[in-house]
Amino acid sequence: KTRLVILISGRGSNMRSIIEAIDAQQIDATVSAVISNRPDAAGLDYAKAQSIATAVVDHKTFSDRDSFDKALAERIDDYKPDFVILAGFMRILTSGFVEHYRNKLINIHPSLLPKFKGLNTHQRAIDAGEKEHGASVHFVTAELDDGPVIMQAKVNILADDSAESLAARVLDQEHQLYPAAIQKLVNSKQD
Ligand code: GAR
Repeated sequence: KTRLVILISGRGSNMRSIIEAIDAQQIDATVSAVISNRPDAAGLDYAKAQSIATAVVDHKTFSDRDSFDKALAERIDDYKPDFVILAGFMRILTSGFVEHYRNKLINIHPSLLPKFKGLNTHQRAIDAGEKEHGASVHFVTAELDDGPVIMQAKVNILADDSAESLAARVLDQEHQLYPAAIQKLVNSKQD
């Protein structure tokens, strides 16, 4: 069975949508562990309640990115994942880390890449006068939010949208998109 390790930093609603999709047999995979860089990430509680292994690798206890990424990779590799799923994981990863998980490291980003890499994507899409916005699931490469796109979901931007209202509609789409993209990867691995 395809093994997933999910990395989170906070709320973990995308992580939850993946676990729910597995429980509903919409993804043929198992979540081997959920790992957070923040000890207080709310998503850890949900994973624990589902009897999924959890771990914390607190970036604040490391002096530099290299040592954090090394410790994180060691923790991840304990679980021998086929795919490492970034789900609201808000740390930039070193090229060494990214290279170690070539073709295995997946992220969800709240924009229609290649538009709006980085942070504050919803406000920036509104400010740019975009008519459409959305989310992208992509392979992670060393360049931030730049790897090959696997799947995207679109929403229309409405005249009275705030960043918050738009973010909420995009997040609804993310919760459909991420499980679908992961199942696509699982299928392609079995071909
Ligand atoms: C999601 O909207 C995700 O696309 C975004 O953070 C949110 C996490 O929510 N990710 C990024 O901005 C990555 N740079 P969640 O913790 O509820 O899944």
